[in-house]
Amino acid sequence: MEAKKIIVAIDGHSSTGKSTVAKQLAKALGYIYVDTGAMYRAVSLYAMRAGFIDESHFDTEALENDLSKINLKFEISPKTGLAEVLLNGENIEQEIRTLAVSRHVSKIAAVSSVRRKLVEQQQKMGVDKGIVMDGRDIGTVVFPKAELKLFMTATAKDRAERRFIELSDRGEDVTYEDVLKNVVNRDHIDSTRKDSPLRKAGDAIKIDNSNLTLEEQFDQILQLAKITIKKS
Ligand code: DC
Repeated sequence: MEAKKIIVAIDGHSSTGKSTVAKQLAKALGYIYVDTGAMYRAVSLYAMRAGFIDESHFDTEALENDLSKINLKFEISPKTGLAEVLLNGENIEQEIRTLAVSRHVSKIAAVSSVRRKLVEQQQKMGVDKGIVMDGRDIGTVVFPKAELKLFMTATAKDRAERRFIELSDRGEDVTYEDVLKNVVNRDHIDSTRKDSPLRKAGDAIKIDNSNLTLEEQFDQILQLAKITIKKS
């Protein structure tokens, strides 16, 4: 008998390595992986390019008026085999990972009409299950009935260090202090916004990976997924 497919919801703070483990897990299970942060980042890039948001202003109304013009799709990269986000047909995978986008994305993600649009699209992607989705509200709002919910966290210092190395390796000219400030600031906005704030679902399993290697973390999560699939 073919194993039953489940939904795995992975939420948690910024830069906790959610996407790394979500990708590994999806690959091991033969599931689809969806990075919902990339969707909020894509909308942020649209708003930045349109001049709706910068350091000193944010024209929420202009963004809301343009929402129907923002079309997001995922395409599988032939190089990596992973889904990459397309903004109105353009592959913007690299551009959305910059610190400039990270600086604005939490403000964009606090807009309810943006969330409604993206959550609807995310729920459609999960109708057939067999999906690993990561974000901030997956276990609480997008799939409150997900069979396996994980909530990942680590100290801000650990997360900023990892993120700093990642951005520097990619050639971005950033300082550790800037990255730490961004991580702390995003935690604050994401956890205190009115609509779908970041919080652990009551039935989510908390994983603090401050002192876990990637292998240890993956092993733990794969075991949890296998047990959940068996039980469902
Ligand atoms: O996972 P990430 O760092 O790429 O996410 C970018 C931002 O998008 C994050 O600061 C909060 C927001 N986000 C959200 O509000 N809800 C989600 N499901 C995913 C991301």
